[in-house]
Amino acid sequence: MIRRLLVLSVAAAALLCAGVAVAQDAEVLEKGKAVFDAAKPACTACHNEKKNPLDKYGATGTAEDAKAWIRTPKEMLEKTGTKGMMPAYSAKKISDEDLEALAAYLVSLK
Ligand code: HEC
Repeated sequence: MIRRLLVLSVAAAALLCAGVAVAQDAEVLEKGKAVFDAAKPACTACHNEKKNPLDKYGATGTAEDAKAWIRTPKEMLEKTGTKGMMPAYSAKKISDEDLEALAAYLVSLK
């Protein structure tokens, strides 16, 4: 009996944790989208439906690469042999915490 109760409460706790994790994920993605929308210069000036769209970024891109693009675009352009220009966003423009949320948001786009 006690054992069954224990199993049940462990299961309930696990469910609760999963629920909290999902809520936190949604919060992070919402924040990431807000960072994307608020960034200056605007990401959408160069990434929109017409050119270099990011709306499928998560199908192939990783969070690590997204962060590297945002912090060190010149190096990424060189590394990938891509022509073009993208400004670097330092921690003054996009904090480390915001960068994590932004990368999670980009990876969620599929
Ligand atoms: C002045 C133009 C410009 C701005 C502003 C800009 N980018 Fe870019 N970005 C580029 C170009 C050019 C590339 C390389 C071509 C490509 O892969 O889209 C690129 C590449 C990327 C990539 C890699 C895309 C891929 O398919 O692997 C990501 C991710 C990215 N940018 C995110 C951002 C985010 C987030 C912002 C805003 C915080 C931003 N960019 C602002 C021009 C810009």
